[in-house]
Amino acid sequence: MKRIAVMTSGGDSPGMNPAVRSITRAGLHKGLEIFGIRSGYQGLVDGDLIPLDSHSVSGRIRDAGTFLQTSRCPEFVKPEVQLRALKVLEQHRIDGLVVIGGDGSLKGARALHSYGLPVIGLPGTIDNDLFGTDMGIGVDTALNTIISLVDMIRATAASHRRCFVVEVMGRGSGYLGLMTTISTGSQVAVIPEFRMNIDSIVEVLDSRSNANHNASVIIVAEGVCQGAEFMQRLTENGKVKQEVRLTVLGHVQRGGTPTHYDRLLASRMGEMAVLALISGEKGSMVATVNGKMQLRDFDEILDRRKALPGDAIRLARNIGIEIGDVVES
Ligand code: F6P
Repeated sequence: MKRIAVMTSGGDSPGMNPAVRSITRAGLHKGLEIFGIRSGYQGLVDGDLIPLDSHSVSGRIRDAGTFLQTSRCPEFVKPEVQLRALKVLEQHRIDGLVVIGGDGSLKGARALHSYGLPVIGLPGTIDNDLFGTDMGIGVDTALNTIISLVDMIRATAASHRRCFVVEVMGRGSGYLGLMTTISTGSQVAVIPEFRMNIDSIVEVLDSRSNANHNASVIIVAEGVCQGAEFMQRLTENGKVKQEVRLTVLGHVQRGGTPTHYDRLLASRMGEMAVLALISGEKGSMVATVNGKMQLRDFDEILDRRKALPGDAIRLARNIGIEIGDVVES
């Protein structure tokens, strides 16, 4: 292992820069040459590689986003496109690859690994929907961004005695929605893992109005439906007595400055990826399980659905959060 490349892929997540920095610095320290692939799989296929030295990653521990840039590249599922990528890596004499991204990006990594290329993945998605790791890079920052925004919304909600519906990210997972409902003191979580019950939600709002509470907040994960659609269902036939307003948080959730947790997690995972490649490991994702770093085979973790933490569901119910009905499987 003499030369390794690193890329960020899919939706950006805060902590991708600290991960690339750690991979670069740890790799250089171990005597490797490091290349950055720009714009994810698209850049790989197009041969857009740049050498990285210690200076190239200076200060990146503080930066949100990904300075290598990223893209979504649906074409990468095609074997001919994968073969083109392998050719580019061969031309640049790359011996090992680190891919930082979510589920789709790690499936691309597994495809490259299946041709014999040593590949290590890092979980980089704010959704925290990757099976096999307790946390992904960027999740903590996104949670903190959401809670600071919802705290602001609650202030104006209370002034006007309103109910707010807040749409948060999470394409197929209610992790961000559930956790931030708990940590912002919101009343309702509408998340894909549970079936919403509009009548119960209306009851919660009514009983809060009757008890003279000034504000109520409902967090809706985008994986269930758009906030506007939920608003319509909630307010049709004048079901809710209070005024209701909608805020869609959108991409600001991905743009926060990485928190301490994400800087450290990304740095530890990046270093581990380098050590793994040097020691001959391949075809796996770096994971954190009960606070310990582990390597988990792609085949063991991809194509599996990550469940929400059971203790968070219990906590939500025990402190009176309305989260809907269990969906029968
Ligand atoms: O995958 C992370 C994520 O932020 C999802 O929560 C969201 O649905 C999606 O990316 C948005 O993707 P894009 O930036 O391509 O609109």
